[in-house]
Amino acid sequence: PRIAIFISGSGTNMAALLYASLLDNSHYQVVLVASNIPDAAGLEIARAEGVETFVHSHKGHSREAHDAAMEAALIGAETEYLVLAGYMRILSDEFVRRWEGRILNIHPSLLPKYKGLDTFARAIAAGDSHAGASVHVVTPELDAGEVLAQARVTIRGSETPGSLAERVKYAEHQLYPRAVADYVSARKAS
Ligand code: GRF
Repeated sequence: PRIAIFISGSGTNMAALLYASLLDNSHYQVVLVASNIPDAAGLEIARAEGVETFVHSHKGHSREAHDAAMEAALIGAETEYLVLAGYMRILSDEFVRRWEGRILNIHPSLLPKYKGLDTFARAIAAGDSHAGASVHVVTPELDAGEVLAQARVTIRGSETPGSLAERVKYAEHQLYPRAVADYVSARKAS
């Protein structure tokens, strides 16, 4: 299947997804990397590998207008699945409904715990033994869709939000390509 990836930042998960897709026997192809942030670092990584990129700043546009521009790029690239990787915009309900079951996200917590922001500080403050990341299907309600796969990371005694974030990132880079491959393969088979 053909996947597009939306990013807003460093794009390290996008890079993990992209390079996994370039291995033999990959289950998906990255056809587009798009961002609402014109200088998002991940865009250069995509360009380096010859992947089409698209930039549309959300500034000065309504949510619906911004989503419409992003969606036009998705359609232009004949995208089958949209994979969010550090995309810091909430998608409009209408957009999510049109792409229902075809949008995935990665969230840096063991959902259903810690939806939203500051997940690492909240896990440490709660005295949790583990933090982690969850890949889930995107629904109109934030971080609430079906969880497809999770990676667990031990919280040590000396942990800071920053040290935890770094290790969860490593885990995400293993988790996300596999979860995307499993999801698109299963949907293709059914
Ligand atoms: C990841 O931690 C992901 O869980 C969250 O945003 C971060 C994106 O990081 N949704 P990167 O841009 O992939 O490095």
